Amino acid sequence: MITTAPRGTQDVLPEESYKWQYIEQALTALSQKFGFHEVRTPVFEHTQLFDRGVGDTTDIVQKEMYTFEDKGGRSITLRPEGTASVVRCSLEHGLLGRSLPLKMSYLIDCFRYEKPQAGRYRQFRQFGAEVFGSQHPACDAELIAFVSQIFETLGVGDIGVEINSIGCPKCRPMYHDKLRAYFNQHIDQLCPTCRERLEKNPLRILDCKNDSCKEVAAGAPKGIDNLCEECHDHFEGVKTRLDAMGISYTVNPQIVRGLDYYTKTVFEFVSQNIGAQGTVCGGGRYDGLVQTLGGAPTPAIGFAIGLQRLMLVMEHAGAFMGRDTVCDLYIASIGEAASVKSQQIAMDLRRQGFFCESDVQGRSLKAQMKYADKLGARYTLVLGDDEIAAGRGKVKNMETGEETETDFSALGGLLGKR
Ligand code: HAM
Repeated sequence: MITTAPRGTQDVLPEESYKWQYIEQALTALSQKFGFHEVRTPVFEHTQLFDRGVGDTTDIVQKEMYTFEDKGGRSITLRPEGTASVVRCSLEHGLLGRSLPLKMSYLIDCFRYEKPQAGRYRQFRQFGAEVFGSQHPACDAELIAFVSQIFETLGVGDIGVEINSIGCPKCRPMYHDKLRAYFNQHIDQLCPTCRERLEKNPLRILDCKNDSCKEVAAGAPKGIDNLCEECHDHFEGVKTRLDAMGISYTVNPQIVRGLDYYTKTVFEFVSQNIGAQGTVCGGGRYDGLVQTLGGAPTPAIGFAIGLQRLMLVMEHAGAFMGRDTVCDLYIASIGEAASVKSQQIAMDLRRQGFFCESDVQGRSLKAQMKYADKLGARYTLVLGDDEIAAGRGKVKNMETGEETETDFSALGGLLGKR
């Protein structure tokens, strides 16, 4: 073996992949019900997109990006998240000039150089959704309702949503001043990164993972107590609508999120059952990002669910995670003529939509039947010269052991009966 997979990455093995397919299909189907169309953007972007978009005081930009120079001397970064790319794509293709709201979803792999642990990878998968063009609290509430519906549909309805408001450019400067004054009193307890962040973006300190910073942050003034009237009313509007839709939530003033683009509503869906990395979904409003990246001022809001974490939650809940495909018929053959015939019949049945296998290794009948058993085939058929001459054979139901003699042309009808 040349090497092993890099730390923090994951192989999805053939016997597990159906779970991923099931979840991704369910997410796609649900997003269509909520009016989202899929967008696909490149795995890598120009580094400056994330520097500007995600924010250069965030852990992601400061510590976690996979950045390299390509052979043309450009600085390239493997996407650490999807939002900045979706905004870039919308601007590049003029999508925001069409009728609004513009609603897009995506299923992507993201890359962050973080310390791997349960539920935390260096390559991980996200399902995300973004809505552009509405500043109304109805939009925030609908998006949170969408995520709730996803969890409910996937059988993990007990995940709670925590919401907060972190204000807007109008109320934030005053709040930042209050934070600076508070953190300056505790500067000795802050980590070197947070000391640097103090001037530029004190909000970031509230999200630091360092224990000492966390302790200080717990006593800091709360954003929610320092909102302007507009932000306050917006947040009340979101809550009223969540109440009306029967979506329970808790207000958690500690949520600030790890990316710089957020304004007003932020939210996280947190599971208590999968260890330290319990945040399965994170999102919020980002009314300034489109303009930061060169577009006209456009309100926007979105979320992303981490699929590895979603799977952990589903496994813990014993939720249905799809079924692997089951072989409808295995055709064993004795001799060359039967081998040719078995392949022909298998192909006919596949054209009719069945999962059918025949021997492609020239194995003994015993070995073929053993393989059929391993496949878990529903039915088997053994072909020899007599069967070919008669144009019919005995199909065995592997569950009941019952045998039915059938013309080859009628095999589809028999397999179709469940
Ligand atoms: P985020 O909170 O950085 O937000 O990531 C969203 C979700 O991705 C997390 O809640 C978590 O489930 C998953 N996740 C993050 N990092 C890892 C990791 N290292 N390993 C496994 N899973 C991980 C965003 O990415 C924003 N773009 C969400 C958003 C969209 N906000 C507005 N629109």
